[in-house]
Amino acid sequence: MELSVLTSPAWTEVVLGDFDRFLQDHAACERKASATGLAFVNRYGDQPWLVGPMIAFAQEELEHFGQVVALLEKRGLSVGPDQKDPYVGALRAVLRTGKEAHLLDRLLVAAVVEARGCERFALVRDALPGGELKTFYEDIVRSEARHAGLFQRLARHRFGRELVDERLSELIAIEGEIVAHLELRPSLH
Ligand SMILES: [Fe+2]
Ligand SMILES: [Fe+2]
Repeated sequence: MELSVLTSPAWTEVVLGDFDRFLQDHAACERKASATGLAFVNRYGDQPWLVGPMIAFAQEELEHFGQVVALLEKRGLSVGPDQKDPYVGALRAVLRTGKEAHLLDRLLVAAVVEARGCERFALVRDALPGGELKTFYEDIVRSEARHAGLFQRLARHRFGRELVDERLSELIAIEGEIVAHLELRPSLH
């Protein structure tokens, strides 16, 4: 997926300037991603095309969460308190109501969030010197790319390519606007 706005290099600088806080936020993002998968299962339990993939997705994100927590512990850090994510909040506000439109939007917002994670984790990967952390982020980038594709595929399976592509390009534009106005913090968003 091609995002409409690329992350500024200043963001990477801020992240590298306080990597401990970035890792704490990264852990929280993985935990929330896992919860998103479970929320799909909870709300759409009668849709088998979605349930299996979302259980696998939730498991994989939970595994990432455990991996980031292990990295935190190595640095003598604990999981930080949960913080509001203005980016996710702004995206949630654009979800349409109405059963079908809501499901389509939830899937596509999840796809865009995964694509943004992929873009930003790749910046982190590129900025890190070789070693355990860099290897870890190489793996993370690959799985975020897969997740963006997964949500897009699920949406197309359910709603068809035309409807998906039309709404996806709207959401990509909206997401770019949101990203352009985000305050730079040592966090994923
Ligand atoms: Fe993840
Ligand atoms: Fe992911």
